[in-house]
Formats: sequence, C-alpha cells, structure tokens
Amino acid sequence: MSMPAIDLLAPDNIAKNLLTEIIGSKIIVYDNTSSTNDVAARYAQNKENHGLVIFAEQQTAGRGRNRSEWQSPKAQSILCSAVLIGPQCTPELLSLAAAVAVAQTICSVVANHVGIKWPNDIMIKNKKIAGILLESKPLQKNIAYIIGIGINCHQKKNDFTPPLRQIATSIDIENKATSDRRLIAADLLSSLDHYLQIAQNNPDEVIAQWRKHSLLLGRRLTLVCDGREFVGNCIGLDPHQGLVLQLDTGAVRMFHTAHTTIIS
Ligand code: BTN
Repeated sequence: MSMPAIDLLAPDNIAKNLLTEIIGSKIIVYDNTSSTNDVAARYAQNKENHGLVIFAEQQTAGRGRNRSEWQSPKAQSILCSAVLIGPQCTPELLSLAAAVAVAQTICSVVANHVGIKWPNDIMIKNKKIAGILLESKPLQKNIAYIIGIGINCHQKKNDFTPPLRQIATSIDIENKATSDRRLIAADLLSSLDHYLQIAQNNPDEVIAQWRKHSLLLGRRLTLVCDGREFVGNCIGLDPHQGLVLQLDTGAVRMFHTAHTTIIS
C-alpha cells in the first residue's frame, strides 16, 4: 500500500530558491489530469509559456514511448512536462540533455549508480526509475517541444503492477527512506535548465555527460530500425543522428531515436 504523501507539490514550494533562466518561468500543479504532456501542449500555443512546467499528482492517461501507458499511484511520483518554444537545438540533443538532467537529479538523491539506457530510460541496477517522453507541436511560425518526465519516488515494490515489479524501482526503494518530492522537483527544474542551456551552447558537453551515464556504450546491441533488424557494438552517440553502431558487417551506421527500438 502506498503511504499518504506529506510532500504534496505546490508551485511555491517548488519555486522557492529556484534560480533558473527559463525552466520554471511559470509552474502549475494539477491534482489530477489526463497527461501533463497534453496540458503542456495546450499551453504551448502561447509563446509566453516558454519554460512553463506542468506538474500533476495523478494522471488518468499518462503515456510513455511507443504508445505505452505510464501509471503511478496518486502523489507517489514526479510527473511533469516542460514547455520549450523554438529552442536552438535539435530534438535529438534536447532528448539527451533531458536524460542527462534527470539522471543528475536522481544521482543527487540516490547513492547507487544511475544509468541512461538510450534514449530516455533512467535505470538503477537494471531497473527503470524514470522515463522521458519528448513530443513536439508545430506552431504557426515555430515549433514547441514538450519534455514529459516521470520519476518514481515513493513507490514500494507492490505499488508496481506484477509485470513491472521486476523491472521498476523508485527513489525510496533504493534509499530505504522516504524522499521529499518537493526538493527533487526543484532540483529537476534546475538541472533541466542547466543542461538545456548547455545543449544550445556546447553540445559536446551533453554528449560527454551522456557517456558517463550510458549503459549502452561498448555493449553489443540488437535493434530494429524502420522494420529492419541490426546487430553490432555501440561505439557512440551523434547529437543529430542518434546512436552509432559498428555493425557486424563492418559498416558504421547511425540510428535515429524516432525510428529505433532496442531489442536486447
Ligand atoms: C517512457 O519511459 O516511456 C516515458 C515516460 C514518460 C512519463 C511522463 S509522466 C509525465 C508526462 N506525462 C505523460 O503522459 N508522460 C510523461
């Protein structure tokens, strides 16, 4: 059974001491909504909402990559979506910067090694602790990106459905202690702000940070891209083209996030 949360999120307690340039320019917290990504996409119509972050204590239609569901009991996770309008970098790089930012935030509260399984799974000891869903929305003269983030915080093992129990974890499970989501949320916004600026000014630094956390670098992978299967060793990441594999055929090939699924 989930414990009642005493760390309910509120704009004031997240914004307290927040020193960010863009992210968190406005913060809205919903008690319950469909998906924070959908709400954020509606706000993205107005360019004044650049940097807005929507949080929710509960989602009725939370979603992940590849049309999966993203479920969380009420007030147990950080569920949020940040709006970026016309950022000066590619979605590929945005997605990496977001993964690095989330990984760093989790590192600041958990002692165990935090890994990034490309593109956007944040893992501890082979179990998923957080996920990121980057979506875009064309505007009249611009494009908006919605960075949706889910971080498992207070879940106990039994809060996950049986299929997830062996492959998911939370901050409290890892720490054997109760975390404070308000502090984690504030740290997340600072970290996102920091790495999004780095993505625009110094993409190599984002890649360097990704390499530190990467669980795939140097590993043998099987993946499917546009319906075809490929096998090879992961030798790097290109900020524009995606994952770089040295294939068994000898060729080096890049695999774009949007078209690729890792099988093993
Ligand atoms: C994944 O790992 O597949 C991505 C999961 C992303 C989940 C978050 S929770 C907040 C935001 N709203 C959603 O509907 N999804 C993202």
